[in-house]
Amino acid sequence: PFPWYKAMRTSKPVFRDSEYGLWNVFRYEDVKRVLSNFKEFSSQFGKAFNPAGGPISESIINLDPPRHTKLRNIVSRAFTPRSVEKMEPAIREICENLLSVHRDGKFDIVKEYTSPLPVTVIATMLGIPVKDMNKFKRWSDNVVGGSESNYAEFPAIMKEMIEYFRKMMVEREKEPRDDLITAIINAEVDGDHLSELESLGFFILLLVAGNETTTNLISNSLLCFDENPGTMNEIRSDKGLIPRAIEEVLRYRSPVQSIYRVAINDTEINGVKVPAGSIMVPWIGSANRDESIFPDADSFDINRKENRHIAFGEGIHYCLGAPLARLEGKIALETLLEKYHMITIDRNSPIVPQDSTIVYGLKELTVKVS
Ligand code: HEM
Repeated sequence: PFPWYKAMRTSKPVFRDSEYGLWNVFRYEDVKRVLSNFKEFSSQFGKAFNPAGGPISESIINLDPPRHTKLRNIVSRAFTPRSVEKMEPAIREICENLLSVHRDGKFDIVKEYTSPLPVTVIATMLGIPVKDMNKFKRWSDNVVGGSESNYAEFPAIMKEMIEYFRKMMVEREKEPRDDLITAIINAEVDGDHLSELESLGFFILLLVAGNETTTNLISNSLLCFDENPGTMNEIRSDKGLIPRAIEEVLRYRSPVQSIYRVAINDTEINGVKVPAGSIMVPWIGSANRDESIFPDADSFDINRKENRHIAFGEGIHYCLGAPLARLEGKIALETLLEKYHMITIDRNSPIVPQDSTIVYGLKELTVKVS
């Protein structure tokens, strides 16, 4: 999509497409404004797509203040850098276990490593049995997938998820535990518990938001390093460079390329009139390649001086899981480098991109290791 973004930043930085009627926004400053100015651009677009609503429409990612702030506060402490740091040994163990299976020098790293890791971590935090992982993975792939076949299956998947979490809620009510499900069902906002739909929305959001995205961050990292010879050796000889390398991957191959908002009133962006009710698509993937902010934006450079990417969004909806995603990415790469002397992409096997305009990454990536 990057050449298209570039052309649009120059020729039509704010553009309504005639097919879907969506208002696409491509320049860094404009994307930031649409993402962060919640008084002008609402996140309550869920109902614009699905008038019947549902748990996802009641989750923080689709709410505006004041409800958004109150619900986010319930879990924000569990996701601070200090809290997630405590997960480090558990994450390392998951990574080591995934790599401990003997493989003959060549394997699909998405299937075997980058995809099971985040789903195992979040299942542990929520307090749901890791043995149900295949089910979680199928659900979350569907919800964030954004392709036609996903839309067709969505109602059935939603029904399955709701039944599953309803059972979990009943179990936790009988027997509370030290996990996020218990924290959410016991939480009080203005003297009341959350509605059932809000609790379900929270569980589903937490389960799906960090899976595909973190998987993509790690797989995209391997692709970026392989395309830029020397990078793998550079970070191998100085592991302290890994966090910076991850930031550059987040910018260069942003796992979330686009987000939605709804314009609340008539407004103007970059001189273009946008009517109230317009569905906005701020393109994060384009903002992160904007040459006016990132010199030589189409080059991957882990030593980039100032990296003000917005891969985790901007403002009040800034990714709750950013510290966790960064930590998982760092440990996943460290563990790979410790386990193998050589890691390269097998260019003879297919490198299969994901079929979505929202999440950006790989469905399949074969690596050769020794
Ligand atoms: C929000 C990206 C990992 C949970 C967001 C947003 C972005 C994003 C762009 C902003 C959405 C908006 O403005 O409407 C990413 C990327 C990730 C990642 C690129 C991995 C590299 C995670 C993880 C979790 C998580 C691991 C948690 C388990 C959330 C939640 C929100 C969110 C709950 C909604 C926050 C709110 O509305 O206040 N993420 N995310 N994300 N993310 Fe992430």
